[in-house]
Amino acid sequence: MTILVTGGAGFIGGNFVLDWLAGFDEPVVNVDKLTYAGNLDTLKALEGDTRHVFVRADIGDREVIGRLLAEHKPRAVINFAAESHVDRSIHGPGDFIQTNVVGTFNLLESVRAYWNDLSADEKAAFRFLHVSTDEVYGTLEANDPPFSETNTYEPNSPYSASKAASDHLVRAWHHTYGLPVLTTNCSNNYGPYHFPEKLIPLVILNALNGKPLPIYGDGQQIRDWLYVKDHCSAIRRVLEAGKVGETYNVGGWNEKANLDVVKTICGLLDELQPRADGQGYAEQITYVTDRPGHDRRYAIDARKLERELGWKPAETFESGIRKTVEWYLTNQAWVQNVTSGAYREWVSTQYGA
Ligand code: NAD
Ligand code: DAU
Repeated sequence: MTILVTGGAGFIGGNFVLDWLAGFDEPVVNVDKLTYAGNLDTLKALEGDTRHVFVRADIGDREVIGRLLAEHKPRAVINFAAESHVDRSIHGPGDFIQTNVVGTFNLLESVRAYWNDLSADEKAAFRFLHVSTDEVYGTLEANDPPFSETNTYEPNSPYSASKAASDHLVRAWHHTYGLPVLTTNCSNNYGPYHFPEKLIPLVILNALNGKPLPIYGDGQQIRDWLYVKDHCSAIRRVLEAGKVGETYNVGGWNEKANLDVVKTICGLLDELQPRADGQGYAEQITYVTDRPGHDRRYAIDARKLERELGWKPAETFESGIRKTVEWYLTNQAWVQNVTSGAYREWVSTQYGA
């Protein structure tokens, strides 16, 4: 048995592959295009591990994906690959349409062709798990209930619109062609190997480097934070026991205003690595122009996943954020590689431009 993971050199996919191979012997074929967000340094611990087969490829490349499926015969495909950063989607939406919409379409077609040729038993056992986001539901007012699986899709950014489109394609490939799909819609993740364009790693590294901690607008936007390893355990559980065709919201009931998240990180750094000048890191907080179309509040109702599949997160926000800050303080080699861009140089040396 083998699984095929896409986007497994990124933040969540990388954590997923590491956790998977730490817990099971089932091999992983890891297909990643290695965009700026893909970092093989994250997978360093797997060097020489024959259970991990890394292939640099685009999910939209039907020839390569078709060949990999035929060669490795995975029992499941888990699709993490995406352009994932909202701010980048505002500056340049094209890549988001290309990978998240067109790429997912091509991947679904490659997988459908492979799945059609499986035996009846293999067909029934096969799963295509699509990893998606809570942002497809749009934004919440302060007193609205959290997003449930029955909320309508009201995406507001080019990123969330492209993810919504991909979710619709996945749904349609199940309803029309019978492909056995599962979709997860998760809230904001944080934890090890998070690329420092996103709020939490950006704030940790800017704080340590004496740079401003940029707060968009008034900093009162709310996100619902989940430790990345809890997201990975949810995906494993949905893969194992999820009902074909269903969607599952994933979250940890950790709604926090951005400003409070940043102040929590500053407090942890004050404790673990105080500033040389005796000031607090919160001194570095700087208010900057808001993100256009910035969604005010996200919150996930994860009761379906708990009720039907018995999943619960292991970390609270307090335990997870402490682990995360400690991880960035103790994994200087990974941090240096990312911040210096050295990982990109290595990718061009290894694979060409
Ligand atoms: P990421 O940007 O860190 O990683 C994405 C990975 O996909 C990178 O390794 C990149 O090289 C790869 N990739 C991009 N385009 C590709 C293509 N065309 N073909 C093959 N590989 C490609 O993203 P992430 O934060 O790890 O998110 C993973 C998935 O989870 C995404 O689908 C995202 O929408 C979803 N998600 C993320 C969060 C979050 O908080 N980060 C929350 C919910 C859902
Ligand atoms: O909700 C799930 C989504 O969470 C995922 O689908 C996305 O892939 C992931 O990137 C994340 O999107 P956000 O836009 O919520 O994450 P980001 O870390 O970019 O921003 C978190 C919040 O912090 C958001 O309200 C914007 C704000 N922010 C962000 C940055 C980078 C700041 O105030 N300052 C910043 O410098």
